Amino acid sequence: MFKNKITPFLYFLLIPAFNACKGPETGVNAYNYQINKSAEFTSAAVVCAHPLASEVGSNIMKNGGNAIDAAIATQWALAVVYPGAGNIGGGGFMVARFNNQPAFTLDYRETAPSKASENMYLNEDGSANTRLSQNGHLSSGIPGTPSGMYAALKYAKLPMKTLLESAIKLAELGFAITQSEADNLNSSKEGFLRNNTTSPAFVRDDRPWKAGDTLVQKDLANTLKRIRDNGLKGFYEGETARLLVNEMEKGGGIISLDDLKSYKTIEREPIVFNYKGYEIITMPPPSSGGILLQQMLGMLSTRELSRYPFQSEKSVQLITEVERYAYADRAEYLGDPDFVKVPYKQLVSAAYLANRMAAFDSTKAGVSNNVKPGVLPKESEQTTHISIIDKEGNAVSVTTTLNGHYGSKTVVSGAGFLLNNEMDDFSIQPGVPNMYGAIGGAANAIQPNKRMLSSMTPTILLKDKKPFMVVGTPGGTTIITSVLQSIINVVDYGMSATDAVNKPKFHHQWLPDRIDVEDDFDVNTIEQLKKLGYTIYNRGKIGRTEMILIKENKKIDAVADKRGNDSVAGF
Ligand code: GLY
Repeated sequence: MFKNKITPFLYFLLIPAFNACKGPETGVNAYNYQINKSAEFTSAAVVCAHPLASEVGSNIMKNGGNAIDAAIATQWALAVVYPGAGNIGGGGFMVARFNNQPAFTLDYRETAPSKASENMYLNEDGSANTRLSQNGHLSSGIPGTPSGMYAALKYAKLPMKTLLESAIKLAELGFAITQSEADNLNSSKEGFLRNNTTSPAFVRDDRPWKAGDTLVQKDLANTLKRIRDNGLKGFYEGETARLLVNEMEKGGGIISLDDLKSYKTIEREPIVFNYKGYEIITMPPPSSGGILLQQMLGMLSTRELSRYPFQSEKSVQLITEVERYAYADRAEYLGDPDFVKVPYKQLVSAAYLANRMAAFDSTKAGVSNNVKPGVLPKESEQTTHISIIDKEGNAVSVTTTLNGHYGSKTVVSGAGFLLNNEMDDFSIQPGVPNMYGAIGGAANAIQPNKRMLSSMTPTILLKDKKPFMVVGTPGGTTIITSVLQSIINVVDYGMSATDAVNKPKFHHQWLPDRIDVEDDFDVNTIEQLKKLGYTIYNRGKIGRTEMILIKENKKIDAVADKRGNDSVAGF
């Protein structure tokens, strides 16, 4: 039941024969669908980057599934209808909390192949080769998403066969693509041609893609069927694994059959902390998101943020400096906790954060070269997000990624899925920026089987032990600052979910030393910030936040970011 429905696009059925994709198999019409930016629901909601995938998840809950069932079905569907980031060849994090039970997280982040080495992206002269870490076969880590979906299944109610059904149909029979998907496929054509050994379904030779064209992915459908029929072995062993390793051998990659067979999802304790009466549940390392969120909200707690009007130069300056301090620590201390000791307790201690804030000077811009990672007390992008709540009050927040748009741009021939370019999230050389401009050091250096540091920040907020917010976004290193600002917008500035998601965002990550702003950011604030000494960089758009807010009257406010084709569904 929709209240505030916005329907900017309609993709009409062009070829009636394909109407087979509508009906009990998928419950969605793949050729005639609408984008709903916000709605109020009474029972359950899904918000994600594509309307068809949101509908798939919502239908699963209508048919007896819980929020985890919906998350799994939505993830499979996104792998088909949102190939730029929805994936089976990438990885992700799930943060979930069943009503009145302890929260849990699943880490199905990609791992470095066993043949990976610290210097694998260095040229003979010692310089870094980011072309290799960002494109093609050598840029891929071992995919984690299929493993993650099976790890989640123990919390689900429905069989995997049911959860895969819609994705298989959408891949096999095709669906109408949106204008933005057509634009993205067209602009990525050169990349697809350069990084593939056979021409993938994403390339058309006759003419450019246009909105309403049908994208059919038969090879992907067959891979999903192998997963359906053989479980994890349908991906990590047998035909799919053989096709993936063949692809590596043809294209100079290093993922082996053993790498695939030994991939494991890890269930980790969530990071849980309080901010102004809200319990925040979020992702621990190998995500940097949870720790940075706790640090930044901790530093902000030392000041009265809401004293300053929303996005006035005073509030933007305070948030910017807090972001600067936290990202300096990210570069030094954070990495895969199974390989490096992450000094979590020290990084979030009140004394440490107060000490960091001692450098804050409200009369002028900080300078990143003067801000080093904190001295600890002794001892011790393209991505996509799914927010879900079900009728029992179970909340699930999933962020998943191929890293860059369409990942490595390499499709496994015969298996039809895109591989990630997640190896670029490692620090490929100290001080060399990754594709998001982030630098790192030893803690995030490449080692065989290690997980690369992430910024993905799937988050759930509780109020009085009940779900209050489910939130997350894509955006590389901007993910953490966008989640931070979405939370602040609601908690400190009392905004509605629609405003909290759609108001302009800004971002500072220590280096490069500048504030990135969206193109609709307030020009007066920009002028004031320049006077304080800040460098401002127009970044176009930042993130695509998916938010669910549970209101006092228990109604569910579901909001999909205005910045893409993101869409809500529910009942
Ligand atoms: N690949 C983006 C991230 O994990 O942060």
